[in-house]
Amino acid sequence: MSTIQYGDRIPNNVRLDEDRVLQRALEHWQPRFLDWWKESGPADFQSSDVYLRTAVGVDAKGWASYGQVRMPDYRWGIFLADAEPGRKIGFGDAMGQDAWQSVPGEYRSMLRRFIVTQGDTEPASVEQQRMLGHIAPSLYDLRNLFQINVEEGRHLWAMVYLLHAYFGRDGREEAEALLERHSGDPDNARILETFNEPIDDWLSLYMFTYFTDRDGKYQLKSFAESAFDPLSRTCRFMLTEEAHHMFVGDTGIGRVIRRTIDLMKELKTDDPAAIRRAGGIDMELLQRYLNYWFTSSLDLFGGEDSSNAASAFATGIKGRPDEAGYADHLERDTSFELARPVADWDGSGDGIAVDEIPMRNATNEVVRQSYIRDCEIGLKRWNRTLERAGTGFQLALPSSHFRRKIGAWASVPTDPSGRRITAGQFSAGIGDWVPSADDKAYVKSLMVKVHEPGKMAGWIAPPERGINNLPLDHEYVRVP
Ligand SMILES: [Fe+2]
Ligand SMILES: [Fe+2]
Repeated sequence: MSTIQYGDRIPNNVRLDEDRVLQRALEHWQPRFLDWWKESGPADFQSSDVYLRTAVGVDAKGWASYGQVRMPDYRWGIFLADAEPGRKIGFGDAMGQDAWQSVPGEYRSMLRRFIVTQGDTEPASVEQQRMLGHIAPSLYDLRNLFQINVEEGRHLWAMVYLLHAYFGRDGREEAEALLERHSGDPDNARILETFNEPIDDWLSLYMFTYFTDRDGKYQLKSFAESAFDPLSRTCRFMLTEEAHHMFVGDTGIGRVIRRTIDLMKELKTDDPAAIRRAGGIDMELLQRYLNYWFTSSLDLFGGEDSSNAASAFATGIKGRPDEAGYADHLERDTSFELARPVADWDGSGDGIAVDEIPMRNATNEVVRQSYIRDCEIGLKRWNRTLERAGTGFQLALPSSHFRRKIGAWASVPTDPSGRRITAGQFSAGIGDWVPSADDKAYVKSLMVKVHEPGKMAGWIAPPERGINNLPLDHEYVRVP
């Protein structure tokens, strides 16, 4: 078991006190992080007492403590999962060799780029969600938002620790730049597109935490397999926190559906206009939000046929989630059947061709497909609820070829089922497939803050239980 140093200025389990240079560098970064938090973190509420969990160790049973905290006083720490003695590399050309405890010179820039890209998403999401506190549907939800925000802040710390500890001067410069880029900033945007898209209503937040935080889960699981052991250990612990973020999305969408079902029963109709008149979210609208955030998150996995992904796999830098479940950990002469759009399609046939590409080059696509299967779990559950309630509506994930901006299907017009269509059909249809200006304005009109303990906004059902066994009407945030 690692030693927890919770009393230090930066709580940690990496014996920061034994490396004074590193400790000083991180203590120098700490006030810059706090400045960023105050400027770009949740707008207002900084002096509110929030019922938060804080990571205090990595023991599966007792890793977090719960209590009232003012967010700027949150103890952001550096925690890595315990080392596995004698850990070996589990895939790629170096399979079976000792995992790396330092960065091999030849892989330095590739590893740094991965860590910076992952690190960049963490503060980006906090910036994207900055204004949501003002329109939270309940104190319970407000608390969950802030919980996610402080933990994304801690994930930034996790990546900054790796940069400082293993990448010298370049790493320190990258750590500074992580606080300088800003979500949606036209001059200095965040690295990945999805993390520059505004999240200004709570339906988008639930979609983001269901779909985009789940992309995060898959990235972290890929890095958990990494030959670079400190990265693997860091990501394994981050996954512990990530589960709650997806829970917020999963239960949030489920609660919207439950509320709408109640309205359908009350009104004895599933007519979207009637549901809207009653202040609910119609399932057609929910489906359009889902289409938008799911497809945007699919792009985060990168191109289907990628030599970068192949070399990340070959070198052992980034693997596949749950690598142990694959039969072949080398994938040297194996191949993958990749569906790609036929160029200059003339409308005959389905316009799809299948190429055999080396399996290693298809790693992004393999990971994307396991992500999609994970996304489907929630849909099945919601659809059962919709079916049991006797509604005729079912939600569906769109095809991974639909509305893509990156990869083989980028800018190829298809309908949500993945059927190829003309550019004209696409621009005529897209208004029905992703949220329209009307939809967004309607959702915005529903966003009113509810600050009375236990009360919920009218468009969402209450959750089944409170946080950490507390009752639902607990005052999760004390708003001054
Ligand atoms: Fe995160
Ligand atoms: Fe997250």
